[in-house]
Amino acid sequence: MASRLLLALTLWTGCSPCGGREAPAQPKVLCRASRYPIAVDCFWTQPTAPHSARPTSFIATYRLGVAAHGESRPCLQLTPEATSCTIPDVQMFSMVPYILNVTAVQPWGISSSFVPFVPEHIIKPDPPEGVCLSLLPGQRLWVQWEPPRSWPFPEIFSLKYWVRYKHHGSSRFRQVGPIEATSFSLRAVKPQTRYCVQVAAQDLTDYGERSDWSLPAAACKPMGK
Ligand SMILES: *[C@@H]1O[C@H](CO)[C@@H](O)[C@H](O)[C@H]1NC(C)=O
Repeated sequence: MASRLLLALTLWTGCSPCGGREAPAQPKVLCRASRYPIAVDCFWTQPTAPHSARPTSFIATYRLGVAAHGESRPCLQLTPEATSCTIPDVQMFSMVPYILNVTAVQPWGISSSFVPFVPEHIIKPDPPEGVCLSLLPGQRLWVQWEPPRSWPFPEIFSLKYWVRYKHHGSSRFRQVGPIEATSFSLRAVKPQTRYCVQVAAQDLTDYGERSDWSLPAAACKPMGK
């Protein structure tokens, strides 16, 4: 009898780490302002709980400043199971950081992650779009592009750009920039050679980080089309 009880206890305790009785893991959260100053978008990952019948749901809230009595507002999620949320109405140049609280909710427990951020410091534009090449006389290549469509006010919050290029078969890129226009001419390119050209964007005033590189440039559509 006693040994059976011991066995049962052993099984029970042996099972507890994988039996879903522990609080869920903390979500790993990343916030980005790629459409500054309209919104901040936050994303998170959560290791899926073993043996869990239903997906983890999340409560995402934020407040401005660390004061515990500060007003807490919802970070907007499409569904409670969504692993992203949006903070609309960003306050620019706030003296205090935003604090995002992402709480994973399971029937047996909750677990919260807190992410402090200043919107200007997490600016990362999406890559420039419509990057295209045309040939100019004198062995020059004309690169043109547009700001990312997700960047809402390119006239007010200007972007600067970098261009990197290499000819087909070369392993190394050359880079030029920053460029405060949306076109650039590459000189002394080899005739009859294919080039890989990509563009990246950053906030003109150096906030945040550079975008990822754009898709490689295609040939520009002929004028008047
Ligand atoms: C974080 O959010 C959860 C869920 O809304 C809440 O229970 C918890 O008190 C919050 N934590 C803090 C420090 O605000």
